[in-house]
Amino acid sequence: MEARNLSARYGQVQALAPIDFQVGAGELVAVLGPNGAGKSTLLRAILGLVTNAGEVAFMGAALPRRNPVAVASRGVVLVPEGRGIFGPMTVMENLELGAYRLKDRHERQRRFDRVFELFPRLKERLGQTAGSMSGGEQQMLAIGRALMADPKILLLDEPSLGLAPRVTDEILETLGVLNRSGLPVVLVEQRAPQALKLAHRAYLLSLGRLVAVIDPREVQSHDQLAQYYFA
Ligand SMILES: Nc1ncnc2c1ncn2[C@@H]1O[C@H](COP(=O)(O)OP(=O)(O)OP(=O)(O)O)[C@@H](O)[C@H]1O
Ligand SMILES: [Mg+2]
Repeated sequence: MEARNLSARYGQVQALAPIDFQVGAGELVAVLGPNGAGKSTLLRAILGLVTNAGEVAFMGAALPRRNPVAVASRGVVLVPEGRGIFGPMTVMENLELGAYRLKDRHERQRRFDRVFELFPRLKERLGQTAGSMSGGEQQMLAIGRALMADPKILLLDEPSLGLAPRVTDEILETLGVLNRSGLPVVLVEQRAPQALKLAHRAYLLSLGRLVAVIDPREVQSHDQLAQYYFA
C-alpha cells in the first residue's frame, strides 16, 4: 500500500496533515503517537471514511477515496477502535457477518477453521452473545470477523485498548503469527514498546503530523522512544 500526500479533515479542522505512508508486501507497520495524534484518522482516511485528499494505491491500483465499501471489497479491512462487534448477537453471527457476501460453503468453512485455529476460545463460545464476553475475547472476535472477510491487508485501531497486559500480549502475538503467514498489517497502538517488537517500521504521529519514521532495530531504550514522543 502506498499513500501519497494523504490528508484528512473534519469540517474545517485538518486532523491529518499530508503524509506519505507505505506498507510493503508482508510488512507489519506500526502507527504510534499520543491521544489525538491522528492515528485513527489515518486509518479512516485510507478507508475513505473521512473527508480526505491525496492518493492511496493498493496492489498497484488506486483505491477509491470516498467509497469505504469499495475499498473494503479490495481486501482492505479495518478492525475499528472500540471493536464494532454486535453485542446482542452471538459469536457465530458476528463471524458470519464478516463473510456475509460469500456464497461458497467450502471457502466459508476454510475461513472459520482459520479463525478457530488462531483463536480457539471463539470456537468454544460460538453460541454466546458477543456482549457477554470479556474484553479480550471481544477483541479476538473483532479480529476474527475481519479475517472472515479474507483481508489482503489488515488495519487495526488500538486492539489492546482497555485490556490487561497478558491479554494484550496474547493478541499482539497472534497478529505477529498472522503477519508472518504473509498478511500485511497496519497496527495503531499506544503501547509502543510491544508494537515495536513486531513492527518492521513505525510511523510516529503527533498533533496530526508525521514526526518520525522509526526503524525498530534502532530503538535502543524506552528513553530514546520517549525522546521521539516529546521531540
Ligand atoms: N468526528 C470528528 N469530528 C471532529 N474532530 C474529530 C473527529 N474525530 C477526531 N477528531 C479530531 O481529530 C484529531 C485526531 O483524532 P484521532 O481520533 O485521529 O486521534 P488518535 O491518534 O486516534 O487518538 P486516540 O489515541 O485518542 O484514539 C483530534 O484532534 C480529534 O479531536
Ligand atoms: Mg484513535
